[in-house]
Amino acid sequence: MSLMKPSPSWRLALLALAFGWSLAACDAARPVEPVAADPEPPSVQDAAFSRLWDYEAQQHAGRDFTHLSPSQSGADPFALTALPDAKHLVGVLRGADQVVLLDADTLHVLHRASTPAGPVAVVTMPDGSVVVAAEGADALVRFEVNQGTLVQSGTWALPQGSVVRDLAVGRAGVLYSVDERSGKVVARALGDAGAVKRQEILGQCRGPTHVRAAGSVVAVNCLLEHTLNVWAVGDDGFALKPQAPLSVTLDGPMWSLAARADADGKVWLVAGGVENRPLDRSDGAFGFIDSFVFAWTLESGALKEVVGVNVSEHGVITPRWLGLEASSQGQMSAFVTGYGGDKAVRLPLGGGAPTVVEALPGVVSAVSRPGGGWTAASALLDGWVTMEPGAEATLVGAGQAGQGEARDVAWRTGELLFFTHLMAPWNATEGRRSRFTCETCHFEGYVDGRTHFTGRGEVYATTKPLVGLMDNRPHFTRALDKTMVQMVFNEFRVANKHSGHDAWFEVDAQVLPWLKAVDGLPQKLEPEFLRRALMAFLMGFDHKPNPAVRGRKGFKPLELRGARLFEQRCAGCHAARLVADDPDSAVDFEHWEAAIFAHKGPIVWARDGYEKTGVEPYVHDDGARPTSLRRLYKKWPYLTNGSARSLESLLESVSWDEGGRFYHASAPEGATGLEPEQRAALRAFLELL
Ligand code: HEC
Ligand code: HEC
Repeated sequence: MSLMKPSPSWRLALLALAFGWSLAACDAARPVEPVAADPEPPSVQDAAFSRLWDYEAQQHAGRDFTHLSPSQSGADPFALTALPDAKHLVGVLRGADQVVLLDADTLHVLHRASTPAGPVAVVTMPDGSVVVAAEGADALVRFEVNQGTLVQSGTWALPQGSVVRDLAVGRAGVLYSVDERSGKVVARALGDAGAVKRQEILGQCRGPTHVRAAGSVVAVNCLLEHTLNVWAVGDDGFALKPQAPLSVTLDGPMWSLAARADADGKVWLVAGGVENRPLDRSDGAFGFIDSFVFAWTLESGALKEVVGVNVSEHGVITPRWLGLEASSQGQMSAFVTGYGGDKAVRLPLGGGAPTVVEALPGVVSAVSRPGGGWTAASALLDGWVTMEPGAEATLVGAGQAGQGEARDVAWRTGELLFFTHLMAPWNATEGRRSRFTCETCHFEGYVDGRTHFTGRGEVYATTKPLVGLMDNRPHFTRALDKTMVQMVFNEFRVANKHSGHDAWFEVDAQVLPWLKAVDGLPQKLEPEFLRRALMAFLMGFDHKPNPAVRGRKGFKPLELRGARLFEQRCAGCHAARLVADDPDSAVDFEHWEAAIFAHKGPIVWARDGYEKTGVEPYVHDDGARPTSLRRLYKKWPYLTNGSARSLESLLESVSWDEGGRFYHASAPEGATGLEPEQRAALRAFLELL
């Protein structure tokens, strides 16, 4: 398929532009101005900048923007469950589309079976079978464990375009699921393969990522809304009656959730998330974004906050998994792991000193070991980790990255920069100082549902996705960083501001001993290599295929009407380009359908330059850059100032004044908006992008 207009000048134009850009950007990116003694050879940083710009230009010139870049993410163990015999575990490999049976002691793989694309959740059913959910499939799949092998024994169809993120089993074996795209929380009593005996929707919210069942409640983490919702269920596992959930809302996202009933039947809930107060950018750094753990008990029909603890102080950063443990005296503690660091911490919830435990980064799921401690899945280190107070953490590789070929060391380092404290190893946690990772605001590379104060005037900004950045220059709504290398130099500076260390640092394994667990890393990570690594990662960090087009080939009539309207009314700004800053990469309307229903869904629906569309206050005197509209279901709220809480309300505000000028908001009196059926058509079309 050739979507791009033939353009012999395209690569040349990019390279020519490169020269001017590298000089301009270089000045902007230089943290410390060297005193110029004329003529002076370029500084080390300038020279590195210029080499990295060449690297970026080469990557652009060689890229096929119509296809996803091959994933380098590895096997990505993503969820674990223990079998009733306590001798076996079952895990899923999100990056290898596999489910694996493990020996619970040695963590060796006993058997592997294929799953639909992107398995992310696995639970053990009361009969000892396991059910797997994959984010790339419209079905739940059951496996039986039969003489040391996993045998697929049933599938249950889900609505087209489902993205189930998590599963839990509760009373009467009822299976709860959360769907990241529809936002629905569903309770199902499964019958034999394919049959569902009973199914009910408990509720719906933005970006649900975790569901847990304990005692008589089901709890859901709605990541984008920063809210936990808790429903009461009866003995049959279904909601007692139509009910509004009990809920708590914090200032920022939570990334993990655990629930457990104690011996008295009291339900405890713990969540790991960001510090519960707004971001502070008053001194140019990112302030008040440490990682915290919050705990509640459910008493007399209300959620009572028990503790809020800063776990960044213990080296536990972005806790994406935590568990609840009860001591023999009935004391409850939380065992908290950090995706972004190499520490875990055991926090007694009734008071008492926390115990720091050696761990490894990347933990997304864990199960307790019969003799004490935990076995975890590390998506970043592509293996199984054991952790236990007083012991070193160990790593057993999950094997079979899917592709079977060696992975690029720079790419892996870039992934670690993005998701761990490697990006800013010396950050402190006192006062507004914080230990964080990019994921603190960009969950899995997407967004946190927050509207942050930018530190300038009255300007607030919602977080933007960091996937598909290579096709989506220039970067930032206001700064319009023309190149990725410029953006990357800037990010190193911001992330390390006030850390007491220059952003131009090198790292050796003595500073971060866990780096030894990563195969093939050089002993010393030089500053230029670190920047190249972050670039390599971001250039390969693509959007996932759009679930809305899964299994489909072409427009429905309403979507086609939406496409035509979009071409007339929207595409002037949300340009149908494969590369946002390259007009020659525009895709003709007649090829939109093929592009939209292709695996990558490559059109960016944006262009460079500023536009004033009434979204005020403007981030820049000239307005804001038109936002890419790819995979809008992963983003919320909309518009830079976060004022659009749904696509419907965004489209209700769209209008044109008498002179034909376009407004996203604050349109003058007499402006004309969209008719309801036009909004419906546009909404249907936007879903497909
Ligand atoms: C405190 C929250 C926060 C943290 C931490 C954070 N970001 Fe962001 N990021 C934002 C916000 C808010 C925006 C939207 C600003 C805008 O509209 O330009 C953003 C936007 C971006 C963009 C622009 C995307 C685009 O399409 O233009 C890039 C690139 C980026 N961030 C990279 C990073 C990297 C790399 C890290 C880690 C070093 C990081 N961010 C950490 C809040 C954060
Ligand atoms: C004149 C240029 C222009 C036109 C025409 C235009 N937009 Fe936009 N659009 C923008 C800009 C600029 C932004 C970012 C504004 C901001 O948030 O500050 C934006 C933002 C958006 C967003 C929010 C995306 C997000 O991630 O927050 C959506 C959705 C959107 N536009 C849809 C549309 C639709 C649908 C149409 C046609 C009916 C349209 N736009 C027409 C310039 C335009």
